[in-house]
Amino acid sequence: MNNSQALKHYDAAIALSIEREEERIESTINLIASENYTSDKVMAATSSVMTNKYAEGYPSRRYYGGCQNVDTAENIARERLLELYGLSSEEFHANVQAHSGSQANMAVYFTFLELGDTVLGMDLAAGGHLTHGYKINFSGTFYSPVSYGVHAKTEELDYEEIKALALQHKPKMIIAGASAYSKIIDFKKFREIADEVGAILFVDMAHIAGLVATGQHPSPFLYADVVTSTTHKTLRGPRGGIIICKKEWGTKIDRSIMPGLQGGPLMHHIAAKAVAFKEAMEPSFKEYQTQVIKNAQTMVTEFKKRGYRIVSNGTDNHLFVVDLRSKKITGKIAEQVLESVGISLNKNCIPNDPEKPMITSGIRIGTPAITTRGFKEEQVKQVVDLIDRTLMNKEDEIVLTKITHEITQLCNAFPVYKGKKEFFINPATRTESETIL
Ligand SMILES: Cc1ncc(COP(=O)(O)O)c(C=O)c1O
Repeated sequence: MNNSQALKHYDAAIALSIEREEERIESTINLIASENYTSDKVMAATSSVMTNKYAEGYPSRRYYGGCQNVDTAENIARERLLELYGLSSEEFHANVQAHSGSQANMAVYFTFLELGDTVLGMDLAAGGHLTHGYKINFSGTFYSPVSYGVHAKTEELDYEEIKALALQHKPKMIIAGASAYSKIIDFKKFREIADEVGAILFVDMAHIAGLVATGQHPSPFLYADVVTSTTHKTLRGPRGGIIICKKEWGTKIDRSIMPGLQGGPLMHHIAAKAVAFKEAMEPSFKEYQTQVIKNAQTMVTEFKKRGYRIVSNGTDNHLFVVDLRSKKITGKIAEQVLESVGISLNKNCIPNDPEKPMITSGIRIGTPAITTRGFKEEQVKQVVDLIDRTLMNKEDEIVLTKITHEITQLCNAFPVYKGKKEFFINPATRTESETIL
């Protein structure tokens, strides 16, 4: 009996939930900007025996025996991460142990700040992240956050406002980075502002890490004291976090992660991160990121043709936010009706949104996942048409049924994993001949 049969036999309920998730992935157009589909190789590592190993500490300095193989994997991951961003190990330090982006960010706060210190970060409602100072997140509870938004007219970062806030509040740390911002971030300007007030510059590049890796977004490393990222968004790796800092902060960062925040690292995820970094250095990854941006820009053009307003009037990256007010529909309703036909995305505040955060006036759209499944300009034009028709006919069951059928056809023509020999098929459903490990 192989692994898949064993799981099905032993735990039919979980095997079924995995199978259903596979079906959902195959049959849904995924426009969630923070999601992606990892490769068979990445999943081979996440489902490997490295899940078993306790390895508190760092390579060659562990609190457990038997770490020789996980040491090798973690060293490879750290070296590749620096190589991916063109950084020398003389100058920079990499930590690949954070279980998530939020924990990577927390480690940065622990490293550079005392409780109560002032931090200047982007407002959640304007596109920032919870960990950038949201009042009920650790960052807003244990520290004193001050928030910047976007310019009222351009809806782009307003560096004059950021500078004025920095001069007024003298933050100990300034955070650059966002979860829903579609324009290039000028890290040099952030550095200049940080220098004026003697602040640490922390860049959270979680969303754009894949674009930075291939040179399609300016790199923060020349300017930041510390950079964090998730590994599962545009970078297309397993779920997790990473930290890269100037060498001088390396020991403190490592200690903030362990023993400061975490116990044993997830060695199977660290191995998978290493695989993802290798993939991100392939020429095909640059082609992929180029297509991600082309797809986002094509969708923006198509939405505009249909009378939708795009926040900040466009996109330079993998995402954009659509203002739905001209169509008299809220983000919440749009998310629900689109989900019902097989399009997955999230409601999102627009700048100065008149609606509550649980309702919103907008939706956020990202192209990393659909580009991984092979969508190009022709398909993304079709996707915008499907979205528009769904929203304009949100109570017409006949039209919605027809749209659902069209979405199924489109998805079937571009499978994510199903039927692709090179892709991993989950342990619950694969047959012996498909086992790749
Ligand atoms: C900018 C940014 N930072 C950090 C995170 C946190 O990542 P995680 O969900 O892995 O904690 C996110 C997640 O969406 C993000 O968008």
